[in-house]
Amino acid sequence: MKSLTRLLYPALALVQGIMVAMPGTAAAAPTSAVANSTFHNPVLPGWHSDPSCIYVEGLFYCVTSTFISFPGLPVYASRDLINWRLASHAWNRESQLPGYSWATTEQQYGMFAATIRFREGVFYVICEYLGVEGKEAGVLFKTTDPFRDEAWSDPVFFHAPKIDPDLFWDDDGKAYVATQGIILQEMNLETGEMTPAVELWNGTGGVWPEGPHIYKRDGYYYLLIAEGGTAEDHAITIARARNITGPYEPYEGNPILTNRGTNEYFQTVGHGDLFQDAQGNWWGMCLATRSGPAYKSYPMGRETVLFPVTWREGEWPILEPVRGVMSGWPLPPRSRDVPGDGPFNEDPDAYDFTGGGAIPKNLVYWRVPRPGHIAAVRGKGLRVRLSRNDLEGAPGGSEPAARAISFIGRRQTHSVFRFEVDLSFSPRKNGEEAGIVAFLTQHANIHLGVVRLDGEPTLRFNASGVVTTRKIPKSWGRAETVRLEIAMEKPTEYILSASRAGNRASRIEVGRASAELLSGGTGSFVGTLLGVYATCNGAGSGLDCPKGTPDAYFTRWRYTGLGQYVSETEVVRAGKGIGK
Ligand SMILES: *[C@@H]1O[C@H](CO)[C@@H](O)[C@H](O)[C@H]1NC(C)=O
Ligand SMILES: *[C@@H]1O[C@H](CO)[C@@H](O)[C@H](O)[C@H]1NC(C)=O
Ligand SMILES: *[C@@H]1O[C@H](CO)[C@@H](O)[C@H](O)[C@H]1NC(C)=O
Ligand SMILES: *[C@@H]1O[C@H](CO)[C@@H](O)[C@H](O)[C@H]1NC(C)=O
Repeated sequence: MKSLTRLLYPALALVQGIMVAMPGTAAAAPTSAVANSTFHNPVLPGWHSDPSCIYVEGLFYCVTSTFISFPGLPVYASRDLINWRLASHAWNRESQLPGYSWATTEQQYGMFAATIRFREGVFYVICEYLGVEGKEAGVLFKTTDPFRDEAWSDPVFFHAPKIDPDLFWDDDGKAYVATQGIILQEMNLETGEMTPAVELWNGTGGVWPEGPHIYKRDGYYYLLIAEGGTAEDHAITIARARNITGPYEPYEGNPILTNRGTNEYFQTVGHGDLFQDAQGNWWGMCLATRSGPAYKSYPMGRETVLFPVTWREGEWPILEPVRGVMSGWPLPPRSRDVPGDGPFNEDPDAYDFTGGGAIPKNLVYWRVPRPGHIAAVRGKGLRVRLSRNDLEGAPGGSEPAARAISFIGRRQTHSVFRFEVDLSFSPRKNGEEAGIVAFLTQHANIHLGVVRLDGEPTLRFNASGVVTTRKIPKSWGRAETVRLEIAMEKPTEYILSASRAGNRASRIEVGRASAELLSGGTGSFVGTLLGVYATCNGAGSGLDCPKGTPDAYFTRWRYTGLGQYVSETEVVRAGKGIGK
């Protein structure tokens, strides 16, 4: 910890100018109340892909894509565009999509990019769920209270031929859904019935014209889309028409936003949405990847960034290029006065689980968990039942049989951080294992567990197949409670270590692994989760370990963000928000 703090300070010196604009510090308005603001990106760090955002009565709301993770489609709320609270998940219970999660094939199917909209007191989240044979993919969730999971409706199902549905109401009240392609259909929001598709625009020639959003302004329908694929060629382009069905005239200056072909630290800029604040100023949010042009190490995947937009009457909007340090319209005064009980995205976690109760809102599973397998137990901690399958899904075989893994985690939300948990576990049979993991997919993860090997509890580190074992030192006594830790001191390397709980001096580093293992590959749409797992490594039958297999208990779950890289060389220290 000490060495890490020292490591950060020289870098911090580079960004003295930025420090005034960090989240939670006074709004940067040195001369007058209307001076432009300075802020840093990403505003929703960690895996937050395909953002769609709105402004409603003093609060901004964004939804992001979640693929196979569950609960899915998180809705974040903010009063100042900087401090984002997790309000709810639109997809939060198995009964909303019965059987879908477990029938989902492959690691990156599930909930694709969503759109959030508000009309006449109702919030709508519209999305497509992919990877389930023979099921309707379109889902429309509604609520009047976006701060409670339970308030989100069961979905209205609809059949849309393509992904990334937008939702737009014309002045006559008709509701339209535009999807990848770009095609348009009118939709009945009660029944999900849709009219035949009309082709609107193919984009400017990039692959995958998708992520459409329609805005009506000054007598034009503006069609904002993503194209070029969600990697280095990603971009936002725009066209407009006098009629919703076209013809659409592309903007001469397309792409209207991209970091394609640049040396910027923020790459893959694209898939955005635009909205207006209370002052009438326009803003946009889109996704970006902190990889630099090398595009090799970016374990947090696609994150959400904010950019100011200047949109004069009758003219095309101007979107400010995405950088780590931004300036633009005055931001609303910094405030954490946001309803709900979810954590703010950049806050630390401090969960003991010994009081029982609900699982914290920001923790997610890989598919819907098996009932009762992961629960907070009063007096004992987070109980994780061992699954027969290991994290990879063996011996369950090919997906979706590999669905039953015992895993729970939170997003890695900082470039440098420390995550630690205490594990109480007494493996009785060889192969019984529980531990800590940096998880991108079932095929790309780095974990450190306590596993019984040759009759003895042993520390085993496994970075996508590179395995190191260490005997638990005799001096740790019976070692029934071990503290496991994953840390990053630089954004390119995970360090996994173990100690006797409560005795930091006993800490031993068991392994290091490159963050490139958790960048792209089988997880190019998702981002790293930090969490815990438990498995009996194939003993038992079906999905279950043998009867009598002990459970693993986790307590003292601590995640602490230490810094955000805003360029290859500049770090902004984390944890400065109001109220901390
Ligand atoms: C899009 O491209 C297809 C295939 O080239 C073409 O048939 C179609 O007319 C185009 N659509 C629009 C709206 O330009
Ligand atoms: C808009 O489209 C409708 C239906 O296709 C058509 O009747 C109308 O003439 C169009 N209006 C303009 C201004 O192109
Ligand atoms: C303030 O930011 C907006 C949005 O980027 C920009 O249009 C405007 O020119 C800026 N004003 C000043 C004085 O820099
Ligand atoms: C290590 O992890 C890989 C998957 O990444 C898995 O196939 C392998 O069985 C694991 N090895 C051990 C010894 O657990």
